[in-house]
Amino acid sequence: MKFRVVAIAVIGAIMLSVAGHWAKQVEANPMTEKKLFGKMPDGTEIYLYTLANKNGMEAAITSFGATLVSLKVADRNGKFADVVLGYDTLEEYANSSNYFGATVGRYGNRIAHGNFTLDDVKYTLALNNGENSLHGGIKGFNKVVWTSTEISSKDGQSLQLNYLSKDGEEGYPGNLSVQVVYTLTDRNELQIDYSASTDKDTVVNLTHHSYFNLRGQGEGDILNHLLTLNADRFTPVDAGLIPTGELRNVEGTPFDFRTPVAIGDRINQKDEQLKLGNGYDHNWVLNRKAGGQLSLAAKVEESSTGRTMEVWTTEPGVQFYTGNFLDGKPGKGGKVYNFRYALCLETQHFPDSPNHPDFPTTVLKPGAHFRSKTVYHFSVK
Ligand code: GLA
Repeated sequence: MKFRVVAIAVIGAIMLSVAGHWAKQVEANPMTEKKLFGKMPDGTEIYLYTLANKNGMEAAITSFGATLVSLKVADRNGKFADVVLGYDTLEEYANSSNYFGATVGRYGNRIAHGNFTLDDVKYTLALNNGENSLHGGIKGFNKVVWTSTEISSKDGQSLQLNYLSKDGEEGYPGNLSVQVVYTLTDRNELQIDYSASTDKDTVVNLTHHSYFNLRGQGEGDILNHLLTLNADRFTPVDAGLIPTGELRNVEGTPFDFRTPVAIGDRINQKDEQLKLGNGYDHNWVLNRKAGGQLSLAAKVEESSTGRTMEVWTTEPGVQFYTGNFLDGKPGKGGKVYNFRYALCLETQHFPDSPNHPDFPTTVLKPGAHFRSKTVYHFSVK
């Protein structure tokens, strides 16, 4: 009898604690939805998670490439639209070379001739952009499967993604353990927190490659979007889009976005740098607060919808790219993505830094902890 009472009490306590655990999880992460997005050829399941905030904003992220698939943001009338380009299916992401919404690594942007020397050892990377290596090589972090865990954070719903990039992958030295956490806050921010560690000296430059159109994905070009860039200088490039090493003042050039200017205003000017990039495809040297704090990098405003986006980052640079390689192929919902139908603001260390000792360093050593944060903050005007 006594045993039965004790047993019932114990079972009751277990049930209560399980219920309590559930309640806590539900409370912490009330709306995160998880569904199957597809399967890899080897059968590995790929998921799509939808984070939501209390204002109805939603961010859908897949474990393939730690990729942002959609981002639903309200306009000034409270009408939601998806403001990032992408695809409806896993197969399209697997076959695309656009980096739509992707997490880019191990090294975002270009490394000249795919070569660099570290600790007197010359490394040769996979070439995938003419004679250069772009965005981590042939199979960068955008093409790999990340492990994914929904976590609750004090700021909102979060998704944690992890990947172990093996020593030698795409030619890079060191086993690199990478973590990316996306958080959607009730302040209408999509925060991205990166961290990484290595067991051998290596180089790291992680970025996020969403293609934004604040009118809604596929809803025309971005030439009327107003852009502000908090940068006095940019890094001019050569014909292969590799920085020459100069940090050029933007004053008097079409690269001066220190006050809001429509992206299309000067994009067709006869300017050597615009010609090389076929538009804007350059790195700006951000004016930053001291000590690696989050600083305002960019602001984008779209007048017909009132949507505005601020980009804050701990990174020293931002690649502003105007979708110059978009060529009319279809994406989500059959929308067609024409030339300049979106813009990217890829926060980063400068391209080809491993070959420019005077650029901020991208070297990561064993025992050190790489951390970086970027925030995309939405509001209406
Ligand atoms: C970055 C590069 C561009 C292009 C896009 C992806 O913005 O600088 O040149 O490669 O990514 O297409």
